[in-house]
Amino acid sequence: MTVIAVAGGSGGVGKTLVERLVQEPKFKVIVLSRQSTQESAFPEIPVVQINYDDVQSIAKTLDTHNVHTIISAIGLISDETSKSQLNLIDAAELSATTKRFIPSEFSFIQTADLIPIDPSIQYWLDAADRLQKSSLKYTRVIPGYFMDYWGMPHVQTNLQPYTFGINIAKREAAIPGDGNDVICMTYTHDMATYVIKALDLDEWPEFSVIVGDEVTYNQILSMAQEITGAKFKVTYDSIEQINTGDVTVPPSLDDTSDDSIEELKEVTALCSRLIVNGVFQFPKENRLNARFPEVRPITMRELLEKCWKGR
Ligand SMILES: NC(=O)c1ccc[n+]([C@@H]2O[C@H](COP(=O)([O-])OP(=O)(O)OC[C@H]3O[C@@H](n4cnc5c(N)ncnc54)[C@H](OP(=O)(O)O)[C@@H]3O)[C@@H](O)[C@H]2O)c1
Repeated sequence: MTVIAVAGGSGGVGKTLVERLVQEPKFKVIVLSRQSTQESAFPEIPVVQINYDDVQSIAKTLDTHNVHTIISAIGLISDETSKSQLNLIDAAELSATTKRFIPSEFSFIQTADLIPIDPSIQYWLDAADRLQKSSLKYTRVIPGYFMDYWGMPHVQTNLQPYTFGINIAKREAAIPGDGNDVICMTYTHDMATYVIKALDLDEWPEFSVIVGDEVTYNQILSMAQEITGAKFKVTYDSIEQINTGDVTVPPSLDDTSDDSIEELKEVTALCSRLIVNGVFQFPKENRLNARFPEVRPITMRELLEKCWKGR
C-alpha cells in the first residue's frame, strides 16, 4: 500500500485532504504534526510527531513509516513555517522511501514578477526551487480561490471562516475594481478529489491547475441577490484605493474575531491587488480537469443555491 503523509493534516486544507484520502483503500495515510497530542479526526490515522528543525530525524521517521508521497498543507504564513517546509523537503530528499512531494500552495500560479504585489510569494518560490533541485517528483496544486468562502457559514468546510468581498448573510459587498476580473475557484472537497486522482499519475506537471468554476465578483453578487431575493449594499473600491491600501472591509463572518481593522484592511488590500492584477484568471490549457473528465466539480451557482436558497 502506498503511504501518503499529510504534513499539517489537521489544518483547514490538510484535514480536507485526509478526509478524502481515507476513502481510498489503496493508500495508507499518516499525518505529520509538530504535536504528539494532536487529536486525529480519524482514530485509524496515525498522527506522527516530527521536529521540523531536525532534518535527519524527519528523514528517519519517513523511512520508518515507509512514506512514499508527502502532501504538505502547512499554513505558510511566516519565515518559520516556510523553513519547516524547506526542511521537510530536505528530509524527503534524504529519505530512502520518499519519492514525491506536493508543496503547500493551493492558490494561484505564483511567479517572481508578483512579489511586489505579495512578498510572501517568496515562500512558495523557495519551496518550488528546492524541489526543482531535488530528485523528488513534485507538482504545485493550483485550485484558485477556495469557493467555500462564499458558502460560509452553511457550507461543509474545514477552512477558517473569513469574508472575501461579499458577505451574503449580511447582504453586503465590498468589491475590488470594477468587479469584472475573472476568478478561478474550486471547492476544497473537489480540489481534494483531483489531488487524489493525480496521485495515480506516473508523471506530474509542474502546475496541477484545477478550476471548479470561473466567475467575476459581479457574477457572484448577481447570483447571490437572485438566490436570496435580496438587494445588497455594494461598494466598489477603485484601483487607487487598492494601491494605497485604503480599502473597504466587508462585514466579518465571525463577530468574535479579534482581528484589528488594520489587519483586515491589509488582507483585503492584498487580495484585491491580486484580483485586479488578474492572477486568478488561469490559462485554459493543461488543466487537471481535462485529465479527469469524470469528475464534475461543483459550480459557484450550485454552491450558492445549496447554501443560500431560502436563507
Ligand atoms: N486558495 C485559497 O483560497 C486558500 C485558502 C486557505 C488556505 N490556502 C493555502 O492552503 C495551505 C494551508 O492553509 P491552511 O489555512 O489549511 O493552514 P492552517 O490551517 O493555518 O495550518 C495548517 C497546519 O500547519 C501546521 N503548522 C503551523 N505552523 C507550523 C510550523 N511552524 N511548522 C510546521 N507546521 C506548522 C499546523 O499543523 P500541526 O500543528 O499539526 O503541526 C497546522 O494545522 C496554505 O498554503 C494556504 O496558503 C489557500
